[in-house]
Amino acid sequence: MDKINERLILALDVDTEEEAIEIVTELSDLIGYFKIGMQLYYSCGNSLVEKIIDLGGNVFLDLKMHDIPNTVFNGARVVSKLGVKMTNFHASGGFEMMQMAAKGLSTPSDSSPPIGIAVTVLTSLNENDLTELGIKASVNDTVKKWALLTKRAGLKGIVCSPKEISLVKEACGEDFITVTPGIRPRWSTDDDQKRITTPYDAIKAGGDYLVIGRPIRAAENRRDATKKVLTEMQQGLDDYRKERGI
Ligand code: C5P
Repeated sequence: MDKINERLILALDVDTEEEAIEIVTELSDLIGYFKIGMQLYYSCGNSLVEKIIDLGGNVFLDLKMHDIPNTVFNGARVVSKLGVKMTNFHASGGFEMMQMAAKGLSTPSDSSPPIGIAVTVLTSLNENDLTELGIKASVNDTVKKWALLTKRAGLKGIVCSPKEISLVKEACGEDFITVTPGIRPRWSTDDDQKRITTPYDAIKAGGDYLVIGRPIRAAENRRDATKKVLTEMQQGLDDYRKERGI
């Protein structure tokens, strides 16, 4: 990735096509990916995905598929025809499901299939929640184990908390992609995010892609807010590279 804005994913958590198109039109030259999650997708569907792509936006389709391997294979296969650049699956669906997800994404003859990533332990879950689910390991151990499984299944990376980046990179290697939400610049409010990291710190820790929503979407001047985030990210990248002599 040459340009810092290729690493910035804006969460389009809005209900309507009008709002989404307004944001994409305003920011498409500054934002690497527009994330369409369940709120917008269930409301507007594939026609909006196509419109955003037509406007020059890269789409991360955040539908977190989780089902039996054959169903996920077919889901991934049809998603890969939409022209989206990134999509995701739940690692808790297991090795075979993730293998079939990777296979489904690369099945159409398209030379550049979407990047397939997995969600490991949702950042909204803590150790007690895992225990309730019958998982005795710690959050960190579970994230590490599931990240390794994701890699072995042929997916390219995971969604994780910025606090887990170094653990994941150590276990799975520098090329294994980390996508991290929970990002808040110092100048913005936390909203409902509890474990937050600044854009600078997330990139300096080796994070590949940052997901950010409200600090940009709700800003009075979205372009200025985006540029400030990008400047922080660039500083983080410069310091990350300096530390490693790259
Ligand atoms: O507005 P905000 O920056 O909090 O948006 C973060 C985005 O990342 C939302 O779309 C949210 O659903 C998503 N996300 C998250 N935490 C996770 C996984 C996804 O905040 N663990």
